[in-house]
Amino acid sequence: MAEIVYLNGQLVSRSEARLSPFDHGFLYGYGLFETMRAYSGHIFRLDSHLARLRCSAESIGLAHSILTTDEGKQSLKAACVATLAANRLKDARIRLTVSAGEGDMTPDPATCSSPTVLITARNLVPLPPEKYEAGFKAAISFLRRNSQSPLSRLKSTCYMENVLARTAARAAGYDEAIFLDEQGYLAEGSTTNVFLVSRGELITPCFESGVLPGITRDAVLEIARTLNIKATERWVEPNELIEAQEAFLTNSILELMPLVSVEGRPIGMGKPGKLTGDLLFAYRKLVDETLH
Ligand SMILES: Cc1ncc(COP(=O)(O)O)c(C=O)c1O
Repeated sequence: MAEIVYLNGQLVSRSEARLSPFDHGFLYGYGLFETMRAYSGHIFRLDSHLARLRCSAESIGLAHSILTTDEGKQSLKAACVATLAANRLKDARIRLTVSAGEGDMTPDPATCSSPTVLITARNLVPLPPEKYEAGFKAAISFLRRNSQSPLSRLKSTCYMENVLARTAARAAGYDEAIFLDEQGYLAEGSTTNVFLVSRGELITPCFESGVLPGITRDAVLEIARTLNIKATERWVEPNELIEAQEAFLTNSILELMPLVSVEGRPIGMGKPGKLTGDLLFAYRKLVDETLH
């Protein structure tokens, strides 16, 4: 079956999809994206992803009605669901990308007439249970997250720093790269938010450290409230991560992945922690409940 993508209001086969050579997303990285996970044909927290997209779009002046109105949101929602269905997918990774669209060959978004909206979906085979039992090993990136940059809180198509950090970490045998911010505080992973557990308390870097407001991060904080687990968002020193009892990484695809070492130094016992396991269980239960 040919792969189907959604492009600017239409479902078309992948080979028919055409993007302008003058698209400002391509020329200047002027764009945003969302990566979502579908379980049994249901996109988890689709509304939250679209709310984040809207907020980000408004903050960078990408003010088209498809991004900033409730009707626009409904049509994007329908488009995501239609793309999933057109590809007959149940468990999938869905990517919604929007850019300023076609404009002049100058970095002036005012020359762009309407945004480009692209939705792609692919079958998702999650990492095997053994990977969750082993956990991830992380490196501290040589790149710093600039908490003063608006890009640090956006899922923007200017993803080069994340790609470079992740590639370097993987080449050195790690699973993920973790950014510190420009002051040396813990920020986030190249594609993940970071949590640690200290004295039974859950701690995650605050937004002021330049982290993406992760949808999974939010769900974990919500679960912690429900389970009466104290959770704090604050500045975090990097040595707090090394000295933590346990730690984990979150994103929509991985859910919660135990983090067992940083730069070769074990976190806690160097094995996935008990609270991490409990929270992963609760997260999957939450996913399950939203499907029924
Ligand atoms: C830099 C960064 N931080 C955090 C996350 C986690 O975000 P979410 O939970 O919304 O998937 C991502 C997702 O890919 C990311 O790219």
